[in-house]
Amino acid sequence: MRIVILGSGRGSNAEAVLIAQNNGRLGQGRVVQIFSDQPDAGILALGTTYGVPASFLDPAPFRTKLEGEGEVRYVAAIEACDPALIVLAGFMRVLKPGFLKAFAGKIINLHPSLLPSFPGLDGIGQAWSRGVKITGCTVHYVTPEIDGGPIIDQTAVRVEADDTLATLTAKIHAAEHSLLPAVLAKLSLAPGS
Ligand code: GAR
Repeated sequence: MRIVILGSGRGSNAEAVLIAQNNGRLGQGRVVQIFSDQPDAGILALGTTYGVPASFLDPAPFRTKLEGEGEVRYVAAIEACDPALIVLAGFMRVLKPGFLKAFAGKIINLHPSLLPSFPGLDGIGQAWSRGVKITGCTVHYVTPEIDGGPIIDQTAVRVEADDTLATLTAKIHAAEHSLLPAVLAKLSLAPGS
C-alpha cells in the first residue's frame, strides 16, 4: 500500500510511521513520499534520515487552506505518486473539494483529541482548558467537515491529578505514535487495499 504523508511541523508522527516501517510493523504499508507546505518544517529532514523522498510543495496563494493553484499543484504531485492512502500527520491546512474529490476515500487525518470532542486547532489545549478527565487521539477519514469524517480508531488518555498541560501533551503524542502506525498496518492488510 503506497502511502503519501503530508505535514507542516516537526514530523514526530511521520517518524513513528517510518520507524514502524523499518521494523516491519507497517504491514503492507510503504511511505513513498513526504510533502510539506512549510519549507523549513522538521518533517522534511526525515527524508534524508529514512531514505524517503521529502520535499516542500508550494501551497500558495492561500495561508490556511489548500485551494486554487496550490491545490492543483498538490493534486498533480500526489497523483504522480499513485498512493493508495494519503496521511495528514500534522498538516495544518484546510482541504477543499478539488483535493477531496481527487482522492475520495483515501485521505486520513490524525487529531489530538477524542473526536467529536475538541475539533479544530489545539485539540490538546482545548481539552485541558475544559478540564476533561479523559481525552486522547483519533484517526479518521477526511471529509469536507473539519475533523468530522468517519472515525477509524482512537486511543484514550486519562488526565491524572498531577498532569500539567506539558505532561498531557507528551502522553497524547506518545499515544499518537502508537495509534497511527497501527492504523496504517491494519488498513494495509485489509482485503482490497
Ligand atoms: C499531532 O499532534 C497531530 O495530532 C496534530 O498535529 C501534531 C503534529 O505533530 N494535528 C492536528 O492538530 C490536526 N488538527 P508532528 O508534526 O510531530 O507529527
